[in-house]
Amino acid sequence: MCGIVGYIGHSERAQDVILDGLRRLEYRGYDSAGLAVLQDGKLRVVRTVGKLVNLESALRDVPLGGTIGIGHTRWATHGKPSEQNAHPHVAGTVAVIGNGIIENFHTLREELSGRGCEFKSDTDTEIISHLIDEQRKQGKGLLAAVRAAIQHLDGSYAIAVIDEEDPEEIVIAKNGGNPIIVGLGEGEQFVASDIPTILPYTRTVLILHDEEIGRIRREGVEITTFEGAPIARETRHIQWDPVQAEKGGYDRFMQKEIFEQPRAISDTIGPRLQNEDRIDLDEIELDPGFVRNLQGIQLVACGTAWHAGLLGRLLIERIARIRCDVDLASEFRYRDPLLTAEHMLIPISQSGETADTIGAMRHGMALGARSLAICNVHESTITREANSVFYTHAGPEIGVASSKCFTAQVVALHLIALELASLRGILTPDRLRDEIEALRRLPRLVEETLGLWSHVEAIARKYVNARDFLFLGRGYGFPVALEGALKLKELSYVHAEGYASGEMKHGPIALIDDGLPVVIVANQPSVYQKVISNAQEVRARGGAVIAVVEQGNRDASNHADDVIAVPAAPEAHGAVLATIPLQMLAYHIATMKGTDVDQPRNLAKSVTVE
Ligand code: M6R
Repeated sequence: MCGIVGYIGHSERAQDVILDGLRRLEYRGYDSAGLAVLQDGKLRVVRTVGKLVNLESALRDVPLGGTIGIGHTRWATHGKPSEQNAHPHVAGTVAVIGNGIIENFHTLREELSGRGCEFKSDTDTEIISHLIDEQRKQGKGLLAAVRAAIQHLDGSYAIAVIDEEDPEEIVIAKNGGNPIIVGLGEGEQFVASDIPTILPYTRTVLILHDEEIGRIRREGVEITTFEGAPIARETRHIQWDPVQAEKGGYDRFMQKEIFEQPRAISDTIGPRLQNEDRIDLDEIELDPGFVRNLQGIQLVACGTAWHAGLLGRLLIERIARIRCDVDLASEFRYRDPLLTAEHMLIPISQSGETADTIGAMRHGMALGARSLAICNVHESTITREANSVFYTHAGPEIGVASSKCFTAQVVALHLIALELASLRGILTPDRLRDEIEALRRLPRLVEETLGLWSHVEAIARKYVNARDFLFLGRGYGFPVALEGALKLKELSYVHAEGYASGEMKHGPIALIDDGLPVVIVANQPSVYQKVISNAQEVRARGGAVIAVVEQGNRDASNHADDVIAVPAAPEAHGAVLATIPLQMLAYHIATMKGTDVDQPRNLAKSVTVE
């Protein structure tokens, strides 16, 4: 996950402030780093692969003196980690650093190449530097050039730009889920991807919103819309203590992690979706012959990761048409499973240290199955022992209850299903393109879904005193119902059951009583009518229905006491979107009850015993 830092001031400390900021951003994970400083009016750029110590040691030999500069830690999306792909990217007199993903990267690159641009890297950010340079050559000042250049970009990004020809300013721009903020000092200003990075220097910050551009000069900051309309943004005074700073201003890690989901998803899919017509998954080393002869796939996981596995089974069977089983890792060994060398075993684990998942993986591998782990933690036991690994790039998850790692696991399984289908030759090029396009849209839909925070809080207030909850769903909605119930139990200690909605009549219907809240996951068009008929049965017995539906649904309010509308999306993505308000519901009920959201009683982040 990339990090941005910038500095403009009077003293020649640009290099030191930038390195210090990059150190504070290290937690996001990165594979290369670089900075550009204007020294004696000329752009000087230093970039290195690997950890920051490499950049620091390169700069020790040739330190850069200057009062303005930008720096970046890069986590590879377009192109491998290398010095050439590290930021800043220079075109003409302009240097650019950027976070996020430019979705129309290929089209723009072809157009720019056609106009004679020569590319030195594989990155999408280099495109931006050339677009700005073109505008500069037409005589525009830096701000106008950036404004004109970004009109061509589709995607979600935050950028910072400096220019030899305009040495008195840094220009920044933002669109989509990549934060960028400005710290205001006395005669000096700081730019960063998050607030904690600049807290040693100033506590006064300005936050850039989507579709805004900032011009940062020593004496102040101007913010405008992409179209150029001035914006009077109020500054915020930050009073966080060091622990709050780590939480990035959120009250709790779990809240921060819920809000990090657009980035966790885009960082997980980004490097694998650099092309419009194919998925880049060489890292998982799937042999096409092995995939064609597969007799089956076995998923093993615990808790939330098992819920991701239930969604994974649906994705793999529907997309790749391979028989897929999903087991609780703790049960797997005890059913004498029938795995062979023609099976693929997929352990799913955020931590990579869950004892039952490790045990299940070892057992499956001993039977001859090839293992492909889905994991968020490098160098964990599961990643060391598996035959290959698909890393989710959700970043560190501190809250004990899993949120962003779940949604990252689901998109990981979606990509694996598509790769298996491609290797088996059963995906038409058109279908694959559509799937890739839809996956690329998902982070934005998740971002939009985060806007439900206050609406869900109001619903939580209504039901905070309920002693029991029921969660129902069908198809992709069933694992979502299980996950919603687990989150509520974990965070608020309220008893909650998740059920396949068709099972309601086979038992749980006996629980329905006056006012029992029943959450119905009903944003799946293919099963909507069936799920809604369960809602009617609940209300006929006095239960209260909270329905999660697609935006634009005008029917649900006839059958539900409360409606939560998430963006319309293909059904697999709908599962991700429906999960988010359920995470919020659990979070709000827990905070209203005053439980310890980040460290619920009796729970551990990694369950390293069986
Ligand atoms: O680290 P893992 O993904 O292997 O952990 C599996 C479960 O222990 C974990 O998902 C647990 O259920 C969480 N507390 C869920 O919020």
